[in-house]
Amino acid sequence: MDSNNKKRYTITAALPYANGPLHIGHIAGAYLPADTFVRFLRMKEEDVVFVCGSDEHGAAITIKARKEGVSPQQIIDKFHELNKDTFKEFGIAFDIYHRTSAKIHHETSQDFFTVLNDKGEFDIIESEQYYDEEAEQFLADRYITGTCPKCGNENAYGDQCESCGSSLSPTDLINPKSTLTGSEPILKKTKHWYLPMQNHEGWIKKWIEEGILDNKQHHNPEEWKKHVLGQCKSWIDGGLQARAMTRDLDWGIKVPLEEAKGKVLYVWLDAPIGYISATKEWANMNGKNWEDYWKSEDAKLIHFIGKDNIVFHCIINPIILKSYGNGFVLPDNVPANEFLNLEGNKLSTSRNWAVWLHEYLKEFPGKQDVLRYVLTTIAPENKDSEFTWKDYQAKNNSELVAILGNFVNRTMVLTHKYFNGEVPVRGELVKYDQDVVNMVAEIPEKIENLIRQYKFRDALAEAMQLARIGNKYLADTEPWKLFAQDPDIVKTIMNICLQITANLGVILQPFLPDTAEKIQFMLGMKNVKWNLAGKMDILFPYDKLGRTELLFDKIEDSVVEQQVKKLEKAKLASIPATPAKEAVSFDDFTKMDIRTGTILHAEKVAKTKKLLKLKVDTGIDTRTIVSGIAEFFKPEEIIGLQVSVLVNLAPREIKGITSQGMILMAEDRDGSLSFMTPRKKVNNGSVVR
Ligand code: MF3
Ligand code: ZN
Repeated sequence: MDSNNKKRYTITAALPYANGPLHIGHIAGAYLPADTFVRFLRMKEEDVVFVCGSDEHGAAITIKARKEGVSPQQIIDKFHELNKDTFKEFGIAFDIYHRTSAKIHHETSQDFFTVLNDKGEFDIIESEQYYDEEAEQFLADRYITGTCPKCGNENAYGDQCESCGSSLSPTDLINPKSTLTGSEPILKKTKHWYLPMQNHEGWIKKWIEEGILDNKQHHNPEEWKKHVLGQCKSWIDGGLQARAMTRDLDWGIKVPLEEAKGKVLYVWLDAPIGYISATKEWANMNGKNWEDYWKSEDAKLIHFIGKDNIVFHCIINPIILKSYGNGFVLPDNVPANEFLNLEGNKLSTSRNWAVWLHEYLKEFPGKQDVLRYVLTTIAPENKDSEFTWKDYQAKNNSELVAILGNFVNRTMVLTHKYFNGEVPVRGELVKYDQDVVNMVAEIPEKIENLIRQYKFRDALAEAMQLARIGNKYLADTEPWKLFAQDPDIVKTIMNICLQITANLGVILQPFLPDTAEKIQFMLGMKNVKWNLAGKMDILFPYDKLGRTELLFDKIEDSVVEQQVKKLEKAKLASIPATPAKEAVSFDDFTKMDIRTGTILHAEKVAKTKKLLKLKVDTGIDTRTIVSGIAEFFKPEEIIGLQVSVLVNLAPREIKGITSQGMILMAEDRDGSLSFMTPRKKVNNGSVVR
């Protein structure tokens, strides 16, 4: 296998759709592992380019624009900027964050289409597709919903059922409906350019399953994740089919053919080419040659993505690259992650069940590394995993604060106290010291091996092991008890602690860049490369330490409780309002006599849970009203409150009390109630209309 001699890395992270903000699922799935990997490679002084950007075409964008009543251009501009800034603030160190609306990208993808078309790589097929007569347009897969033929979910999309995960085509749906107008679409003839994937089955299968391409060993399939191979195999075994590479849409990259007026490239044709156009743009700006990263023998292409993108990166795009020819490399690995859940539920943008990264950055300033830490420790590398705020808090308090922060802090404080902030000279080592030194020496290689296998969770655990070793060493040797009698032993101990701290400043850099930088700053380290790690001479005797900074602080219960509340609230807000009732005439409406009134007295109705007996000054009279609000309000807190009252509701007998009217309440999605209190105090008996 020659895959380890390869030297040049082209690292891509899935281009997020510019139709919404980023949440922790995106980060844990693709961007954080990619960033960790890239930071590591840079410390190894490898030649690497790390590209990403906004995916700005496809129905994802037009659907959002429609929903917000703005143009697709406004949507992509807004979210491109937001996501670009958010990535930057979070410390995802792309070499370029490009966008697929860029001219160079339109040209590059049109060139791909033209070359493939000229080579006869497409089948041009006329077929019947769903068309919305009211909207006068063909319907993209995502614009059609209906019942999933596999599981019966009534809200399956034309391309996928999110309930059972099956991939579908629109004509599979039972009772199809247009999401544009709600009408039943008709079938209408249209011509499209198809990629006959079935013709590529032979080599794709060999490449995926054996890692063999053009009779040569291309990569070692053992190095690919099982779930990635599994998904690919099930696609291949299910029989590859022709897939349309063009769409009848007015948003996207125009098909560069006279006869294809009104058609655009399929978003999954253009988006992965976005990695190439991003590299071109970066190369242009930095005096590099993009082809070195895409066409040279020694270029290692690695795609970081979530599992829903596997087929596009492992099958469809490789077919396109190979069909184009001209020496494009195929991915060396696609270390896709599975999904991250949140507090027991699937992350969902539409149901607003998410921790949004830009909000996190605002609400937890300076705590990027806490989130990076937690997300790496729970990364869904081989199976779905879960984020909870309790776990976030626990990992911060009992790992980052209690182990890492504590060790670094004690080391700094003791060195300042005993040695005036200078690195003391290390004397002779006793066996225990030597054991510790040996353990430290082994860690960097373990981490390196794990990172190279995309096992970031385990790699970070090894890095934390270093802090644990340091912590235990300090606790075992207790230098504070020895200093008075034997300052030389303490010199040795503190030298070792400082070297361990310096090691942390090196090996944490790919994972927790901010923290690593703080450590380096405290120790006065510069120009930190990976090959320093594991050694006991990163710092020299008499090196001067800088100021001690606190790396982490405790997160209180109230902080995470507030986050959980925020989630619940957001979820409620996303539940749609109950549909409107049947229309009533204006006359019907005016029959209701609604007035402002003041609650004069309130008490619980005995032996009931829900009822309060109220005395209300309606401006007309003072009357008794029984109201089902006791679960939400204590009698004493509503006395004196001005409310809205339906005063001509026929009196009703409730629990032996005659209730004369009704207090109007707004009932929220969770069933909680709120009084309809006038914004400013008005006279009782004012008519509400
Ligand atoms: N926008 C897609 C998504 O969010 C990912 C595109 S990856 C690319 O699922 F390769 F197409 F760029
Ligand atoms: Zn289904």
